[in-house]
Amino acid sequence: MPATVIVGLQWGDEGKGKTTDFLAEQTAMVVRYQGGDNAGHTVVRGDEVFKLQLTPSGVLYPHITSVIGNGVVVNPVTLIAEFDMLTARGISTDRVRVSRSAHVIMPYHVALDQANETRLGGAKVGTTGRGIGPAYGDRAWRLGLRMEDLLDRAVLRERIARALPDKNLVLGSMGVGPFDVESLVDLAAGWGERLEEHLDDTTWLVQAALARGEHVLLEGAQGTLLDLDHGSYPFVTSSNPVAGGACTGGGIGPLQVDEVIGVMKAYSTRVGSGPYPTELLDGVAAGIAERGREVGTVTGRARRIGWFDAVPLRYAVAVNSVSSIMLNKLDILSGVDPLCICVAYEIDGRRVETWPSSGAALSRATPIYEQFPGWTEPIHAVRSLGDLPEHARRYVSAIEEHAGVPIVLVSVGPERTQTIERAFRPMRRRPGIPA
Ligand code: IMP
Repeated sequence: MPATVIVGLQWGDEGKGKTTDFLAEQTAMVVRYQGGDNAGHTVVRGDEVFKLQLTPSGVLYPHITSVIGNGVVVNPVTLIAEFDMLTARGISTDRVRVSRSAHVIMPYHVALDQANETRLGGAKVGTTGRGIGPAYGDRAWRLGLRMEDLLDRAVLRERIARALPDKNLVLGSMGVGPFDVESLVDLAAGWGERLEEHLDDTTWLVQAALARGEHVLLEGAQGTLLDLDHGSYPFVTSSNPVAGGACTGGGIGPLQVDEVIGVMKAYSTRVGSGPYPTELLDGVAAGIAERGREVGTVTGRARRIGWFDAVPLRYAVAVNSVSSIMLNKLDILSGVDPLCICVAYEIDGRRVETWPSSGAALSRATPIYEQFPGWTEPIHAVRSLGDLPEHARRYVSAIEEHAGVPIVLVSVGPERTQTIERAFRPMRRRPGIPA
C-alpha cells in the first residue's frame, strides 16, 4: 500500500508543489489533507506557471485523481474560481473529488479573521485573512458547515441560523455589519449546485486506491513550524500540516504511510508574525528574496528571509518521521559567501540544541552559526550531486548530517527537469545516507 506523505519542514513555501509535480508520473492520486486557500502551490511547466490554492497540483495530470480531503477547509468561491481558471487553460477538473465532510469557509469566517487581525494590531498573527482560523474554530465547536450541507437548503438554513447570531454579535463589536441568513443560504446553495458532481466520500476513494496498490501522494500545505500543535504557537495556522495530519485529514491509518518526504529550502523563509531566530535583515536577505522570488503566493506579502536553521529541522524530522528529504532552491544561494547554518540557540546564556516548545523561550533565542564558504557558479544545469561545486556539496552534506536522513532530491531551478535525483526510492526504514 504505497502511500507517501509530502510535508513541509519549515514555515511553508518550501516548494512542495514541485515535489508533487516531480513524483506525479508514478502517482495515481494526490490528496490535500489540511489547510485551505491560505496555501499557494506554484508549479512551473515549461513556459506555464500554475498557482493553485486549493486544488491538489495533481490536477495538471490527466491520469491523476485529485482529492480534497476531509481535513481541508474549503472556500467554495476560491474553488469554483480555480476550476474556471483551469478549465479556461484547457485542464479538466472532472477528476477532482472533494470530501463531503470537508468544512466550508463562510463569508463570516473571512470577515472575522480580518476584523480580528485588525483588532489585535501589533499583536496580530499575520494570517492570510482567508478565514482559516474561524472555520477550524467552528469545526471544533461543532458549529461548522460541511460540504455535504451545501446540497440541502433546509440543513443550510438550520446550520447557518445556529452559528450566525454569535458571529454577528462579535462582528458588530468590531464595527463590521451583520450577515443575513437567507442571503447566505442562497449563496451556499448555489455553491452546492456547482460543486455537487465533485463531492464524494473521499476516505473510501483513498482506501480503494490503496487497496488496489496504487501510489497515493498525500500533500501537506504550510509546514511543520506552522503546525497548530508543533509550531510556534500562537503564530501558527489552525490545522496540522505534520505527517500525522495526513491520517486524520486524508482518511488513512498510520501504518498505511509508506514514506514521508520532507521538503525544505536551502535557506529559510517565513510569512506573518512570530519568532524567527535566523531572520536576516540585510542585503543578503534582499538578494535571496529577489533571486528566489520570495513573495507570498496568496497574499503577495514579502516573505521574511533567514539562514538555514538546523534546530527546527531536527525537530521536524522527528515529529514527521521523515524518511527522505527534498532540498529546494539550492541555486538561489549561488553567489552568497559565506553561508551560515544555525546549529544551536543560546537561550538565557545556555546552549540549546533542541527546538523549544515555549514560544517565550524561542523569542529569546540567539542563533549559534557554523559558517560555510559559498560558491559563485550558477548550478541550474547540474544533474548529479558529484557535479555540484565542492562548496555546494559541502553545504548539502552538512544539512544532511543535521537531518540524519538522506536528501534524495535537490532542486536547482523551478522546472521539473532542474532536479538532482539521488537514488530515489520508497524507504520504509530510515536507511543510512547514500554516498
Ligand atoms: P492562516 O493560516 O491564514 O490563519 O495564517 C496563520 C499563519 O500561517 C500566518 O503566519 C500565515 O502567514 C501563515 N501561513 C498560512 N498559510 C501559509 C502558506 O501557505 N505559506 C506560508 N505561510 C502561511
